[in-house]
Amino acid sequence: MNTSFERTGPLMELDSYPQWAQEMVGECDLVKHTVVDHVLWDVMREEPNPEVTATFMVGAWPMIERFPGYMAQSLLKTRFGRSAGDNAARRWLVRNIRVEQNHAEHWLKWAEGSGVPREELLEGPLPPGTQVMADWCEEVSRSDSLAASVAAVNYAIEGATGEWAQILYDSESFAAQYPADTRKASLRWLQLHAAYDDRHPWEALEIVCIILGAEPKATEVAHVAECIKRSYTTMRIFGTRCVQPGRILEAEERPQVAAA
Ligand SMILES: [Fe+2]
Repeated sequence: MNTSFERTGPLMELDSYPQWAQEMVGECDLVKHTVVDHVLWDVMREEPNPEVTATFMVGAWPMIERFPGYMAQSLLKTRFGRSAGDNAARRWLVRNIRVEQNHAEHWLKWAEGSGVPREELLEGPLPPGTQVMADWCEEVSRSDSLAASVAAVNYAIEGATGEWAQILYDSESFAAQYPADTRKASLRWLQLHAAYDDRHPWEALEIVCIILGAEPKATEVAHVAECIKRSYTTMRIFGTRCVQPGRILEAEERPQVAAA
């Protein structure tokens, strides 16, 4: 029985992937919507809010800076010639780490254009509670399987990012927050992720399918799905932290109020 997966349909159509992957994507998309539909994007589009902007820019920076590092950790798990999945992942990761080369600098330029000096990102401190996304990416990239890290980082994080980046990049009220003469440079990161990352998550999904094959064990699929959902969940927590800066403190205070 041949259980390998080789895509024959178009890259960016879900029908091109095995049945298990189609079901997994459908299940995980319910959680992805909590990121893509997060109120943070409405808040950012409406009008500049310096506290939200600073929390967003500084809080996401560790993940932005480390992103090629996560991919490098996935690359370290591959060995050429061991399997079709190893070969495909190795080829794709080598190529795409290079694509990430300038993205950290673009993020710093976006921050500066938003009024957040790059020193705040480079030297910190981090807003409390924003580290959850980067910590999770680090953990799954370092300690879990190749399929899990490619799914969690390159499929889930990049996929949801492509969608929220598109929301902001398409917004006229958001663009109007940036002076016309520097707008293009400030929003370069957004432009790149709204477009380039359209293909990126699909390519990552294809690699996950090549690694796991057409008929993986249910437990393998469940684990990868769990990792994908965890990525979305950390993004949602991050988004909520950006729009509710006092949330942790409020949560700590609540039991006292209830006890009174
Ligand atoms: Fe990137």
